[in-house]
Amino acid sequence: MPPSDEWRCAVAAVPPGHTATFRLDCGGRTVSGFVVNHDARYRAYVNRCPHRGTPLDLWPNELLAEDGRALVCSTHGALFEPDTGFCTAGPCAGDRLTPLPLVVDGDTLAVSCPQRPPPSAR
Ligand code: FES
Repeated sequence: MPPSDEWRCAVAAVPPGHTATFRLDCGGRTVSGFVVNHDARYRAYVNRCPHRGTPLDLWPNELLAEDGRALVCSTHGALFEPDTGFCTAGPCAGDRLTPLPLVVDGDTLAVSCPQRPPPSAR
Protein backbone atom coordinates (compact mmCIF):
# COMPACT_ATOMS: atom_id res chain seq x y z
CA MET A 1 0.00 0.00 0.00
CA PRO A 2 1.49 3.40 -0.92
CA PRO A 3 2.13 5.80 1.97
CA SER A 4 -0.45 8.48 2.79
CA ASP A 5 -0.23 11.62 4.93
CA GLU A 6 -1.49 9.68 7.95
CA TRP A 7 -0.52 6.27 9.31
CA ARG A 8 -2.89 4.38 11.56
CA CYS A 9 -2.60 1.14 13.46
CA ALA A 10 -4.22 -0.61 16.39
CA VAL A 11 -2.84 0.32 19.80
CA ALA A 12 -2.57 -3.40 20.53
CA ALA A 13 -0.15 -3.79 17.62
CA VAL A 14 2.49 -1.82 19.56
CA PRO A 15 2.63 -3.30 23.08
CA PRO A 16 4.90 -1.82 25.79
CA GLY A 17 8.56 -2.14 24.89
CA HIS A 18 7.87 -2.40 21.18
CA THR A 19 8.12 -0.20 18.11
CA ALA A 20 6.51 -0.08 14.68
CA THR A 21 7.85 1.56 11.54
CA PHE A 22 5.89 3.22 8.76
CA ARG A 23 6.14 5.64 5.86
CA LEU A 24 4.21 8.84 5.29
CA ASP A 25 3.70 10.82 2.11
CA CYS A 26 4.23 14.41 3.20
CA GLY A 27 3.57 16.70 0.29
CA GLY A 28 5.05 14.27 -2.21
CA ARG A 29 8.05 13.40 -0.03
CA THR A 30 8.30 10.07 1.71
CA VAL A 31 9.08 10.31 5.41
CA SER A 32 10.09 7.17 7.28
CA GLY A 33 9.01 7.12 10.90
CA PHE A 34 8.39 4.93 13.88
CA VAL A 35 6.21 4.69 16.96
CA VAL A 36 7.59 3.56 20.29
CA ASN A 37 5.53 2.38 23.25
CA HIS A 38 7.58 3.15 26.35
CA ASP A 39 5.78 2.31 29.60
CA ALA A 40 2.39 2.73 27.85
CA ARG A 41 3.32 6.16 26.51
CA TYR A 42 3.39 6.45 22.74
CA ARG A 43 5.74 8.71 20.80
CA ALA A 44 6.44 8.99 17.08
CA TYR A 45 9.65 10.18 15.45
CA VAL A 46 11.20 10.53 12.03
CA ASN A 47 13.45 7.50 11.56
CA ARG A 48 16.56 9.57 10.99
CA CYS A 49 19.57 9.82 13.27
CA PRO A 50 20.66 13.44 13.83
CA HIS A 51 24.30 12.33 13.59
CA ARG A 52 24.57 11.23 9.96
CA GLY A 53 20.97 11.15 8.78
CA THR A 54 20.73 7.38 8.51
CA PRO A 55 17.74 5.37 9.74
CA LEU A 56 18.21 4.25 13.33
CA ASP A 57 17.44 0.64 12.45
CA LEU A 58 19.91 -1.08 10.19
CA TRP A 59 17.77 -4.16 10.85
CA PRO A 60 14.10 -3.29 10.31
CA ASN A 61 12.27 -2.24 13.47
CA GLU A 62 15.30 -2.93 15.74
CA LEU A 63 15.09 0.41 17.50
CA LEU A 64 15.28 -0.27 21.23
CA ALA A 65 18.36 -1.13 23.26
CA GLU A 66 18.33 -4.61 24.78
CA ASP A 67 17.10 -3.31 28.14
CA GLY A 68 14.26 -1.44 26.42
CA ARG A 69 15.10 1.81 28.21
CA ALA A 70 16.55 3.71 25.25
CA LEU A 71 16.23 4.02 21.53
CA VAL A 72 19.51 3.19 19.84
CA CYS A 73 21.01 4.08 16.49
CA SER A 74 22.56 0.93 15.11
CA THR A 75 25.11 2.82 13.01
CA HIS A 76 27.27 4.34 15.79
CA GLY A 77 25.31 3.51 18.94
CA ALA A 78 23.76 6.85 19.90
CA LEU A 79 21.14 6.50 22.65
CA PHE A 80 17.89 8.46 22.80
CA GLU A 81 15.23 8.90 25.47
CA PRO A 82 12.04 7.24 24.17
CA ASP A 83 9.80 9.89 25.73
CA THR A 84 11.61 12.95 24.39
CA GLY A 85 13.88 11.83 21.54
CA PHE A 86 16.78 13.54 23.35
CA CYS A 87 20.17 12.02 22.58
CA THR A 88 21.85 11.15 25.87
CA ALA A 89 24.99 9.42 24.59
CA GLY A 90 26.97 8.96 21.41
CA PRO A 91 28.19 11.27 18.66
CA CYS A 92 25.00 13.37 18.61
CA ALA A 93 24.62 13.80 22.40
CA GLY A 94 22.51 16.87 23.11
CA ASP A 95 20.66 16.70 19.80
CA ARG A 96 17.27 15.06 19.39
CA LEU A 97 15.06 13.06 17.06
CA THR A 98 12.40 14.89 15.07
CA PRO A 99 8.96 14.23 16.60
CA LEU A 100 5.89 13.47 14.52
CA PRO A 101 2.32 14.37 15.59
CA LEU A 102 0.67 11.35 17.21
CA VAL A 103 -2.89 10.94 18.49
CA VAL A 104 -4.29 8.00 20.42
CA ASP A 105 -7.91 7.77 19.26
CA GLY A 106 -9.56 5.02 21.28
CA ASP A 107 -7.80 1.83 20.28
CA THR A 108 -6.09 3.39 17.28
CA LEU A 109 -2.79 5.24 16.90
CA ALA A 110 -2.69 7.93 14.24
CA VAL A 111 0.55 9.59 13.14
CA SER A 112 0.55 12.45 10.67
CA CYS A 113 3.05 14.53 8.77
CA PRO A 114 4.81 17.40 10.51
CA GLN A 115 3.69 20.94 9.66
CA ARG A 116 6.57 21.15 7.21
CA PRO A 117 8.33 18.05 5.86
CA PRO A 118 11.63 17.67 7.72
CA PRO A 119 14.87 17.89 5.77
CA SER A 120 15.28 14.23 6.60
CA ALA A 121 12.56 13.19 4.18
CA ARG A 122 13.75 10.35 2.01
S1 FES B 1 24.44 7.74 12.43
FE1 FES B 1 23.43 7.43 14.33
S2 FES B 1 25.03 7.55 15.79
FE2 FES B 1 26.02 7.92 13.89
